[in-house]
Amino acid sequence: MSVDLPLLPPGFRFGLSTAAFQIEGAADLDGKGPSIWDTFTARPGVIRHGEDARTAIDHYHRYAEDVAHIAECGVHDYRFSFSWPRVLPAGTGTVNKAGLDFYDRLVDRLLAAGVRPVPTLYHWDLPQALEDAGGWLRRDTAYALAGYADVLVARLGDRVRDWITMNEMNVQTLYGYALTDHAPARGLGLAALPVAHHQLLAHGLAVQALRAGGAATVGVAAQHFPVSPAGDDPADVEAATVFTHLTNWAFSDPILRGDYPDEAIRAGVGVAGAALDRDLKIISGPLDFYGVNYYEPTVIEAPKAGKDYRGVLEVDLPEGLPFSPVPVTGVERTDFGWAIVPAGLTEILRTLRDRYPRLPPVVITENGASFHDAPPGPDGRVHDPRRIAFLDAHLRAVAAAIAAGVDVRGYYAWSALDNFEWAAGYDERFGLVHVDRDTLTRTRKDSWHWFRDVIAAQPGAG
Ligand code: NOJ
Repeated sequence: MSVDLPLLPPGFRFGLSTAAFQIEGAADLDGKGPSIWDTFTARPGVIRHGEDARTAIDHYHRYAEDVAHIAECGVHDYRFSFSWPRVLPAGTGTVNKAGLDFYDRLVDRLLAAGVRPVPTLYHWDLPQALEDAGGWLRRDTAYALAGYADVLVARLGDRVRDWITMNEMNVQTLYGYALTDHAPARGLGLAALPVAHHQLLAHGLAVQALRAGGAATVGVAAQHFPVSPAGDDPADVEAATVFTHLTNWAFSDPILRGDYPDEAIRAGVGVAGAALDRDLKIISGPLDFYGVNYYEPTVIEAPKAGKDYRGVLEVDLPEGLPFSPVPVTGVERTDFGWAIVPAGLTEILRTLRDRYPRLPPVVITENGASFHDAPPGPDGRVHDPRRIAFLDAHLRAVAAAIAAGVDVRGYYAWSALDNFEWAAGYDERFGLVHVDRDTLTRTRKDSWHWFRDVIAAQPGAG
């Protein structure tokens, strides 16, 4: 049977992505300290069905099987994250040897299976001890992250050559510190802006630490999405601009342009004058690649009196903000309710290219969809045709961006395996490998087989 598979340029790298807290489990095993997500998930009522990630999908014990699922799919790269409190239980100070040993085993296993490890230092699971001392509101946390980077690169740098500093700083700042939907649930509103600055500073300091430790390439994983106004009313256009400054450009402009996008944000981050200039110099140090996580676009309007905006995003925004998200209409949705707009990926890549003359080569570090896949049937298979259609369309969207001149070098699907989807718990399944909630048995979905075929069909592959 001949199937029309999406084709990307020779040398293009395919990968699968995960994050420590979402898969590892072993929440307090072998000396691991608590993270803000351990604390948050223990609070009643914050996670769907009251779920937590104390066991997650038990990757800590099943990593060898998981590496086999990843490697046999044919991917070149595997993006995972380190758990900071597994390596440094209190965030700084004493190193937990057993924690480092786990990552050592994982890296060796990946390399033996022919997969390049591309780890992320920080994917939201801040050591609780650091949060107790002020968390990302505190500048010292940025220096603590750089110290953690030193520890990892010293131990693994002989085998791990390619590194990602931070994951989706915008989501942690907004959902975790401005709102209360993610850990640490501070609910600070715009007073959370210093969190953005300190995470960005941590990124810049980590780039320096990793390079000093001999890293070959260093990048960041940034969530981006197109934002459009609901209409051409200037009030809607202004609302969309304010929103995209806060959610997109406040996080990428400092890295790729060396400044914040507007005066209000610059004033809000809590550092001014020559000190801000010095920080921005660190934050904008050159990168080898820029990771883009893309899921869906957002449409924004100026709030209309009396209109109910609840339920549009997966989190509800407080009233009184100068922007309101409205539903993207006329499109299919994932089972998580997210709009399926592959053209949005081409669009955001072109926008990034146009906005940033210094944009390094791009890697799509996450893209994928949650569908509530049925467990394996009598044929032993998990049929997920909508995920295949989603991935297919988004790979073609990447090809379109490349044809338009954007330098995209890789695409990592989120996620290798079904896992703990933060506040939404385990209902939301993003994996190419199905994980049974009771037995934790792994079953390759049809999308896993399809992804393997796509990779094998690439020019120059094999
Ligand atoms: C972004 C995050 O980096 C990842 O942890 C999450 O599971 C996916 N997107 C899906 O929401």
